[in-house]
Amino acid sequence: MRVGLLTGGGDVPGLNAAIRAVVKRGVGEHGHHIVGFRNGWKGVAEGDIQPLTRADIRNVLPIGGTLLGTARFHPHAVEGGMDAVMSTIENEHIDALICIGGDGTLHAASKVAEAGVKVVAIPKTIDNDVWATESSIGFDTAVTIATEAIDRIHTTAESHNRVMIVEVMGRTAGWIAATAGIAGGAEIVLAPERPFDIDQVVRFLKHRHRAHASFSIVVVAEGATPAEGTSMDYEMQVGQFGQIVAGGISDRLKHEIEQRTGFDTRVTVLGHIQRGGTPTAADRILGSRFGVAAIDAVTRGEDRVMTAVQDGEVVLVPLAEVAGRVKHVPDSLLDVARALA
Ligand code: F6P
Repeated sequence: MRVGLLTGGGDVPGLNAAIRAVVKRGVGEHGHHIVGFRNGWKGVAEGDIQPLTRADIRNVLPIGGTLLGTARFHPHAVEGGMDAVMSTIENEHIDALICIGGDGTLHAASKVAEAGVKVVAIPKTIDNDVWATESSIGFDTAVTIATEAIDRIHTTAESHNRVMIVEVMGRTAGWIAATAGIAGGAEIVLAPERPFDIDQVVRFLKHRHRAHASFSIVVVAEGATPAEGTSMDYEMQVGQFGQIVAGGISDRLKHEIEQRTGFDTRVTVLGHIQRGGTPTAADRILGSRFGVAAIDAVTRGEDRVMTAVQDGEVVLVPLAEVAGRVKHVPDSLLDVARALA
């Protein structure tokens, strides 16, 4: 078989482990040819290929990013995009496509599958918001990085008696904020799932600083917003592919907290540091498990499915069940963050 492979959307640590597993198992065990496409769906549309052999995947496990490159490009949203994709698939004699991506890439995968291409998907996103899977590649590394950053911010917050706002990624789901907030011992966690009331935030900070501490850590997901009808105006700035302009919510919060409390407040926007560098062991393992499951599924002739973790096991779920849905942080996890304030 000739199996196409692409990584789309934002990069995450652990992608190379998945690519390695697809190539190692696909070439070594099944005797397939693995045809990599450069820069996600853009490479498929442009016929930008990179044949992948065992030599290409040597020593890639500890390396972040993706050796195939990636891009935010949705063929179904561009004029002629789908035709270009279909003609590359035909010209390169691709029998099936493995797409590694988050919501945008998986949505495109379901469109390409509808057009008649066999597709198996693998979920990756530091946001951890892909439906039907307990975890996605990249999340564990991002939480580890964010937790370490909060640990470091603690010491300077305490020394200077400051309120420190740490902004983490998470557009529609606050998984990094909730988990790194708990692991790092943040006083306040603000997530998109639970719009906040600035008056409550301020009341809490004033009480804490009066009663038992002179510093506080506020972890805010980039997609967090004030609740409707509360006393803070905020308009989120969003880019072409739904990416949030970093720093928007935390700058606004800093202003509100300083105005209302008089506490010296600083902002740290972790940004793409959360997506960079060496993957954790957990992400390497997850990438490897998903890679093996995906190439085995392709070999069996499975179509329009995504690898997923459910009850700790790797399973296949219908792609149609996943596209367009968001896995939000459950109340129980946000309640733990609040309980430990
Ligand atoms: O979708 C993953 C993500 O890391 C989001 O958390 C973030 O909003 C976005 O990507 C940033 O996108 P870009 O790398 O295009 O700036």
